[in-house]
Amino acid sequence: MTVLGTPLTRDAVRLLLLGSGELGKEVAIEAQRLGVEVVAVDRYARAPAHQVAHRSYVIDMRDGRAVRDVITRERPDFVVPELEAIATETLMEIENEGLAEVIPTARGAFLTMNREGIRRLAAEELKVPTSRYAFAGSLEELQAAAAVTGFPCVVKPVMSSSGKGQSVATNEAELETAWHEAQKKSRVAMARVIVESFVEFQYEITLLTVRASGPGGVIETHFCEPIGHRQERGDYVESWQPQPMSEKALYRAREMAEKVTAALGGRGIFGCEFFVNEDQVWFSEVSPRPHDTGLVTLASQYQSEFELHVRAILGLPVSTELLRPGASAVIYGNRDAAGVRYGRLDAALRVPGTKLRLFGKPESFMRRRMGVALAMASDVDTARRRANECASLVEVLAAKVPAPRTL
Ligand SMILES: Nc1ncnc2c1ncn2[C@@H]1O[C@H](COP(=O)(O)OP(=O)(O)O)[C@@H](O)[C@H]1O
Ligand SMILES: [Mg+2]
Repeated sequence: MTVLGTPLTRDAVRLLLLGSGELGKEVAIEAQRLGVEVVAVDRYARAPAHQVAHRSYVIDMRDGRAVRDVITRERPDFVVPELEAIATETLMEIENEGLAEVIPTARGAFLTMNREGIRRLAAEELKVPTSRYAFAGSLEELQAAAAVTGFPCVVKPVMSSSGKGQSVATNEAELETAWHEAQKKSRVAMARVIVESFVEFQYEITLLTVRASGPGGVIETHFCEPIGHRQERGDYVESWQPQPMSEKALYRAREMAEKVTAALGGRGIFGCEFFVNEDQVWFSEVSPRPHDTGLVTLASQYQSEFELHVRAILGLPVSTELLRPGASAVIYGNRDAAGVRYGRLDAALRVPGTKLRLFGKPESFMRRRMGVALAMASDVDTARRRANECASLVEVLAAKVPAPRTL
């Protein structure tokens, strides 16, 4: 039975976000709506979720000591990771000591932080179909690994996200460039990589899967309608829901999502990624938290992925019902600038059925995601057209006064 308190009192239910980007910001807002006390943590100041939290901290989240300090000081009920790059060993200690509940579980955060952990769990333990793969810790090992996968193959640092350091090698000679690309974008020296056979898929999906308490506290698994998306350089540029699928493919994806999320355990939302070709489905990866392509659910679902996550965390009932078809299109910084403004918003929002989320990030880079256009319509094609039109109309301008205001 869930009892919620009043924020900023001793009765408050407290949620601590490790990572305060645009996804964390929406989680914080949903938690705020239910009177949950929110603490937002990130590695830089004025991050999106910092701006909507009761308190905020700036720490290096890979530093176990710093993570433990903030948790000891805040004594949250729930620790909610928003990204992979965190000291997950410390989260395992925190969970063991009963200091806080880690969402979905500390082991889930640990296994999905590294591509090797989750791939071995899915493919080797759970026998879920994936692309052929191998791991390598040097260029020589990479050459041997490519013999397992064949060409073309995709090379990715095991510790990376948003397509960073990823490349496709079409022959033996291109492996060297791929190796160096992975090393350049990696967080550690001599970074291990995963090499995967390139899957010629017709489309790829995110299957948002929610583990939430049902009657009697038994964990039940719920699925959102599949989300289709398009990636450029390993980064999502647009998504839509629902993605039409054959009955068989959908059944297979759900079966795999249920297996993988059950193995990670706990409560919360999971973004399960699959490649699909006719009735054939390959598991690609999973993140135990809201997924960027799932931003579309802010327009398309009765309960967005963020509301679903918060409800599941708090032990409340969830509904994954689709309200109507929707789409999202990313708004990039398109400029390097310390501080930006957004123009032509009136024209953008005149596109029917649209909404905007501007994340409030203090600094803009060319390929930094600064906002997203959301659209709804009676069919997916119209929703996609609207979202893309809305996003393309938004103009990112340099700030007049980039310096932060001191109060
Ligand atoms: N083995 C593969 N075959 C074909 N495309 C791939 C493969 N691996 C990744 N991709 C493409 O690159 C995108 C990003 O890869 P992914 O493994 O999801 O990394 P990230 O953790 O950065 O999201 C995928 O959504 C897909 O479009
Ligand atoms: Mg991905």
